[in-house]
Amino acid sequence: MASNLDPHRRIELPLLQVGRGNHKSCRWGCGDACSKEPPNRSGNETYAAVVERALSRRSFLAAGGVGALVLGAAASPAEASEYPPVGPYRPNPTGRRLAFTPIEPNNVDDVVLAEGYDDRILIAWGDPIRPGAPEFDFDAQSPADQARQFGYNNDYLAFFPLPWWSANSFIGLLWANHEYTNPELMFRNYDEDNPTRDQVDIQIQAHGGSIVLIQRGKRGGPFRHRPLSRYNRRITGTTPMRLDGPAAGDDLLKTSRDPSGRRVRGMLNNCAGGVTPWGTVLTGEENFHQYFANLDAVTDERVRAWHERYVLPEGESDRKWERYHDRFDLAKEPNEPFRFGWVVEIDPYDPDFTPRKHTALGRVKHEGATTTLTRDKRVAVYTGDDERFEYFYKFVTKGRYRWWDRKHNLGLLEKGTLYVAKLSDDGTGKWIPLRHGRGPLTAANGFASQAEVQINTRGAGDLVGATKMDRPEDIQRNPVNGRIYVNLTNNTARTAPDPGNPRVPNPFGHVLELREDGDDPGATSFRWRIFLLCGDPADPDTYFAGYPKELVSPIGSPDNMTFDNEGNIWLATDGTQPTGGNNGLFACPTKGSERGHVQLFATVPVGAETCGPLLTRDNRSLFIAVQHPGEGGTVEEPTSHWPDGGDSLPRPAVTSIWRSAEGDPTIGQ
Ligand code: FEO
Ligand code: CA
Ligand code: CA
Ligand code: CA
Repeated sequence: MASNLDPHRRIELPLLQVGRGNHKSCRWGCGDACSKEPPNRSGNETYAAVVERALSRRSFLAAGGVGALVLGAAASPAEASEYPPVGPYRPNPTGRRLAFTPIEPNNVDDVVLAEGYDDRILIAWGDPIRPGAPEFDFDAQSPADQARQFGYNNDYLAFFPLPWWSANSFIGLLWANHEYTNPELMFRNYDEDNPTRDQVDIQIQAHGGSIVLIQRGKRGGPFRHRPLSRYNRRITGTTPMRLDGPAAGDDLLKTSRDPSGRRVRGMLNNCAGGVTPWGTVLTGEENFHQYFANLDAVTDERVRAWHERYVLPEGESDRKWERYHDRFDLAKEPNEPFRFGWVVEIDPYDPDFTPRKHTALGRVKHEGATTTLTRDKRVAVYTGDDERFEYFYKFVTKGRYRWWDRKHNLGLLEKGTLYVAKLSDDGTGKWIPLRHGRGPLTAANGFASQAEVQINTRGAGDLVGATKMDRPEDIQRNPVNGRIYVNLTNNTARTAPDPGNPRVPNPFGHVLELREDGDDPGATSFRWRIFLLCGDPADPDTYFAGYPKELVSPIGSPDNMTFDNEGNIWLATDGTQPTGGNNGLFACPTKGSERGHVQLFATVPVGAETCGPLLTRDNRSLFIAVQHPGEGGTVEEPTSHWPDGGDSLPRPAVTSIWRSAEGDPTIGQ
C-alpha cells in the first residue's frame, strides 16, 4: 500500500494558511482552543523583560530573534558554558547517517514511505477485538458493538512483549489511545445541533483505549492482530476507574453518583502516554474540557474560576453529550470535570485491571507521561500541558523501583513530588516543587491542601512563576544520551518570547533539549538549549542544531516522538506544514556530525495526524497510528478514502511498517 502510489488518489490541497488549524480538528481535538483567548492570565514574568536585560547588547529582538541568538551566541555568557542555548555546527566523525533517502512533502492520500519500506494495515476503527463483536458495518453501528471493536482516532501506541519481561519483538500486546471522535465522519448526515442518543453513546464507547494481541511471522513482514485473544480489551468513556493519590476522596472530586470521590466512569481525550519500567501503560487525558457544558450555571465562585482556568464551555458543548448524560452538565454536576485531566495507569497484562487515575501527577491537559529512573531508582515521569502558554512538569516518586516486586511498583505513582519547570534566559532551569505550604501555595492564596494543588495544578504553576511554553506536547528522555527532549508544537498567539520559547509568533513549533544536572532525572535543576526551530529551512528563523539547512526536510508542529536504539529522535507532526503538505514522520540524529539532520521518512493521508510512532525493541518494526484521516471533510464530502481506497469512507487505523528491501532490516539504519 505504501509505495504503490495510485495517481488517481492524489488530492492537491491548497497551501495551508500559516497559523490556522483545520477547523474540524481544532473543534473535536481541543475544543477550538486556538480560536479563543489563551487561558493563562497569570502575571508570570514574560521573557520580554528578560531578553531585553540579557540580550540587549546583541539587539536580539531587533535583529530578528533567532538568527541573532545563533550568530551572537559567542558573546553570551551561556555560550561560554559547555551547554549553550544554541550552538554552531561542529563536524564530528562519530555521527552515523540514517540509511534512507528522505521523501518529498506531498498531498498523497496514502501512507507514503521512504524507498525500501512497506506497510500494511494492522487494525482500524471498528475492527472486532472482543468476543461477540460483529464485523464493522458503518451503517449499523451501536454503542454495544463499539465497546467491543477498536475505537476511533488512535493516537499513542505502546508495545508490551509476551511473555512479560521478555524482549520479544514478534508477539506482544499493542496499546492504542483513542483520543477523540469526529462525528461528521462517523455518521451519515450528522446533525451537530441534534445528535441522537445512539450517536453520543457510540462516541463515548469509541473513546479510551484498546489492548490487542499482535504477532509477526519469524521471517519478518507486517504484524497482524489476533481478534479473540483473552488479553484483548477495550477501555472506554464509561469503564469503571479508581482515583488514587493525594486528591482521591477530596470533596471537590465528589459527585452525586460518587460520594466517595474515588470512583470515576471512563477516561476522555487520551492523547499520548508512556510505558512504566514494570510494564504498564500511562495515558494522559488531554482536552477534557470540551465534553462539559454550562459553566455559566456554576454558582460556587471558586469552582467556576478553577474551571475557567481550564477553559470549560460557558454554555452548551459542541458535542452535546450533556443532553443525555447529566454528569457532563455543570449545572447538575459541577465537580465532574475535576475527575478528568489525569494520567491513567493500566496494566495490559491483566485483563481485569481497574484503571487508576493518579492524582499525584497533577491535573492538566496532559499530552503524555513518559518515565525514566533516577540515579537512586525512583521513578521520574515527564508530562506536558498542551495549551498555549501552559507549563511542563516532572513527577518524582517517593518510593524506589524494585525490579523484582511488581506489586510494590504498581503503587509507586501514588506518592511523590510534582514539579513544574521554570526556565531562565541563561540556559538554566529549575524544577519547582508544587508542595502545599511551601512558597505561595497556601490557604491564603486559595490552596487549602495538597489535594487542591493537585486538582488546580495550573493555578499552582501560575503562583510559583512557571515558564509559559508554546504548547508542550511529548517530553521524553533519550535512552542513549540521557537528555530530555521537549516538543513544543506551535503558538501563533505569542507576542513576546519566554525563556526557551524564542520565536514570536511560533507557527511551526520547536524542540528543546534539556540536560538534568548530573544527568540525573531526580535533579531539581537542569540546563536547556534549543535543538530545533521548525519550519521551512529557507526561513532564517529556523534552526536545526546547526546542521546545514539545505539538507534538511521542512517540518512543522512536532507532536509525538520516539527514539531508536541509536538515539535518533523520530518526530511525528500534527499541524500546519511549511510546505502545505501532509503530516509526516521525521527522523533526526542527535549526536555527531549528523546531529540536526531532519529527514522525512513517511507521510500520512490527507487530513491525518501522524501518531504513535512506535518501534519494537529490535527496531525492525515501526507502527504509525494514522489519526483522523479525512478530517476537514464529512461523510457526504470525504476528502480521504484511506485506508480502504475507492469510494470508501476514511477510517483511523494503525499501520505496521517493515523494511521490504534487501539488506539490514533495521528501520532507518
Ligand atoms: Fe492531542 Fe497535544 O495533541
Ligand atoms: Ca492527536
Ligand atoms: Ca499529541
Ligand atoms: Ca497535537
